[in-house]
Amino acid sequence: MCGIVGFVGRKEASPILVEGLSKLEYRGYDSAGVAILEDGEIKVKKYKGRLKNLEENLNENPLKGHIGIGHTRWATHGEPSDINSHPHSNGDVTISVVHNGIIENYIKLKEWLKTKGYTFCSDTDTEVIPNLVDYYYKGDLFEAVTKATSKMEGSYAIGVISKEEPDKIVAVRKDSPLIVGVGEGEYFIASDIPAVLNHTREVYLLEDKEFVILTKDGVEIKTEDGEKIDKEIYHVTWDVDAAEKGGYEDFMLKEIHEQPKAIKDTLTSRVLKDTKVQLDDINLTKEELENFDRVFIVACGTAYHAGLVGKTIIEKLAKIPVEVDIASEFRYRDPLITEKSLLIVVSQSGETADTLAVLRDAKKTGAKVIAITNVVGSSVSREAHHVLYTWAGPEIAVASTKAYETQLIAMYILGIYFGELKGTLNKEVSEELKEELLILPDKVKEILDKKDELQKYASKNYMDKDLFFLGRGLDYAVALEGSLKLKEISYIHSEAYAGGELKHGPIALIEKGTPVIALLTEDKLKDKMISNIREVVTRGARVLAIANEGDKDAKEVCDDVIYIPRTNSLLTPVLSVVPLQLISYYMAKQKGCDVDKPRNLAKSVTVE
Ligand code: G6P
Repeated sequence: MCGIVGFVGRKEASPILVEGLSKLEYRGYDSAGVAILEDGEIKVKKYKGRLKNLEENLNENPLKGHIGIGHTRWATHGEPSDINSHPHSNGDVTISVVHNGIIENYIKLKEWLKTKGYTFCSDTDTEVIPNLVDYYYKGDLFEAVTKATSKMEGSYAIGVISKEEPDKIVAVRKDSPLIVGVGEGEYFIASDIPAVLNHTREVYLLEDKEFVILTKDGVEIKTEDGEKIDKEIYHVTWDVDAAEKGGYEDFMLKEIHEQPKAIKDTLTSRVLKDTKVQLDDINLTKEELENFDRVFIVACGTAYHAGLVGKTIIEKLAKIPVEVDIASEFRYRDPLITEKSLLIVVSQSGETADTLAVLRDAKKTGAKVIAITNVVGSSVSREAHHVLYTWAGPEIAVASTKAYETQLIAMYILGIYFGELKGTLNKEVSEELKEELLILPDKVKEILDKKDELQKYASKNYMDKDLFFLGRGLDYAVALEGSLKLKEISYIHSEAYAGGELKHGPIALIEKGTPVIALLTEDKLKDKMISNIREVVTRGARVLAIANEGDKDAKEVCDDVIYIPRTNSLLTPVLSVVPLQLISYYMAKQKGCDVDKPRNLAKSVTVE
């Protein structure tokens, strides 16, 4: 759950490492550090707190050198502190390491190393790595790293430098992401592509247990046994600006505004009028599809909320029973998954530890796996049988917005694809859905234009301590996402309830002035929802409704209404979530919160 970088070249390493780390802060930001080879010695600087602490210190007391490694941390083992920050070194600082992941057997390794005379100063699992490398070092850093990693259990992406071989970085990954950037006379390692994009578009996407040796003369990729691996370079086509704020105050606001484009890109070449849905990386036959007796959709966080919408869509369009579950629950509940099951994992990053574990367990049972992910070359994309990429572009803000929208789109694409393949979807319905899908980007834009209304609502309510979201059917799934967004970034306590469940407890919490946001876009459930709204209004709640354009009833019962354009009722989540994202954003801004980097959270949760 951290970000690592490394640089070898002719330029000064320190500013390049810091700039790379700034692109990886979404992976964690409770401390940061670098280790640089300066005049044949390893010099380490590492501080608790945001990257700017490190940056300021480096400005005052620069480290000079052309080879270095860097780290931005999200604490797992050991509280955030200078000592627990990375890089970690052996006792006499001849070897330094940055690490993303968890060494599960570190206690055993630490005890064993202590019997060999090694001492430790931090509470981290990582500190065993430089000491293990030191133990195995007999004049060849690559060999020492291979031996050390063969003893390590768990997940890791590591970068290692040594003062004995001051011309190189050795790096390797297992179950944590790592890429290699190939520039001209300069080479990089990083947890993610944006960290190197200002320098190169040519990258290697490393697989597990591929070892790299970087010097200023080039990159060698080898197996554990030292055999050379020939790998294809991946050319990054998206622009570096795609990972910058582009004039917006925050990444989150930028990403909310990028939703029309993200939706369009995800639909492009897959959904066309008068043509069946075509998918490049999914090639199921009708027989295979008919053989599945059940679909499981498994994910975490926002991706799970997209899965809840997916259940309704796939059941309705493809007539296959669908179960949706949270990955960390699913993996430990002995699910009845068999070779007749289809598992759909949804993950923006493609690296979420629990989601990945579910994918791996499911494959062992013979189930087929489709991954819906936003990151090309991510672990889930490589390990699933089929992939459906969401083309949202890099999502930097911790709270997911555009990735969620494109995950919903992926669900519609899959639902229609399955329905057409199985013959459960009639042409008329399928054409109507496709036509509506194709105009959704414009309808999202219309909602973005209502930002003044939403900002006004936020400025009236940002001091509230609790807020309730209500909805039925698909509106309930969106209410859950709206509630998550609000708590994540504004720290306002909120709950989402299914309208019909109110009377079974939560209504006890409603009192004079309690703010409620009610979603009212499901035509067939509208009357029921109106009754639920009346129930809370009678008890003093102040209600904002998110309703379909022209809905007069909403105005009559609620204090405020935000209207969204009408669309096919199955597609409303794509529209109704947008005002909720903006309300959360503006409330958090009014409260002075750091919306892109909310406290205690990380974008990519690569540990259990
Ligand atoms: C974290 C992020 C969420 C995200 C969830 C799942 O909690 O803060 O925004 O929805 O992980 O991440 P994934 O990359 O698997 O979609």
